[in-house]
Amino acid sequence: MHLVAPSLLAADFRRLDQAIDFINSSEADWFHLDVMDGSFVPNISFGQFIIEQVAKDAKKFLDVHLMIDEPGRYIESFAKAGANGITVHAEATKHLHRVVQQIKAAGCKAGVALNPHTPVSVLEDIIEDIDLVLIMSVNPGFGGQKFIYHSLAKIRQAYDLIAVRNSPAIIEVDGGVGLQNAQKVLEAGARVLVAGSAVFKADDPAQVVKQLKGISAN
Ligand code: DX5
Ligand code: ZN
Repeated sequence: MHLVAPSLLAADFRRLDQAIDFINSSEADWFHLDVMDGSFVPNISFGQFIIEQVAKDAKKFLDVHLMIDEPGRYIESFAKAGANGITVHAEATKHLHRVVQQIKAAGCKAGVALNPHTPVSVLEDIIEDIDLVLIMSVNPGFGGQKFIYHSLAKIRQAYDLIAVRNSPAIIEVDGGVGLQNAQKVLEAGARVLVAGSAVFKADDPAQVVKQLKGISAN
């Protein structure tokens, strides 16, 4: 069964409590939390302080997506803030292997994200060590962008690499995912759907989560 991870970035932060309650009580599986530093990506979002507040009330897995340069500097502090999983970008660190070990040592699931232009082959020597591959289906930095269809081919490549190497990793897809393409994303091999605007900008967010959960991939 696949998982649905609403991205809080698209929520109304004036009422963060309502967004947290909504995820807790909906059929969603994870909280997806987008950390942006204004350097690795052109936007700045939030950091450990907000995650710590979310963690106080969240009753589900906190999936923290770090879009920051040299994330190794902050792994322990995000784990301390309440992250259950930490995903770093392959493009953002010179020492991906070391950072992955740091994430695990901090007691979190370790994920590696790839920007749209980064080939899946960069994972060849790390795939056995990680719990999650995050395929970015938009250029990271903003919610509400259009899904890049080439991502489907990358999901398939990641799926094959995981199978060939017997890796425990699952595939998460992030950016422009919604009811219009979720089935294709799942059929390509994804296990976790991140959805920001598709959920929070909908008239009935709970219904969208329910529909995303209800999709069955062949
Ligand atoms: C983009 C973020 C995404 C974003 C997804 O840089 O990593 O998690 O919130 O938002 P939507 O679903 O609106 O594309
Ligand atoms: Zn994200």
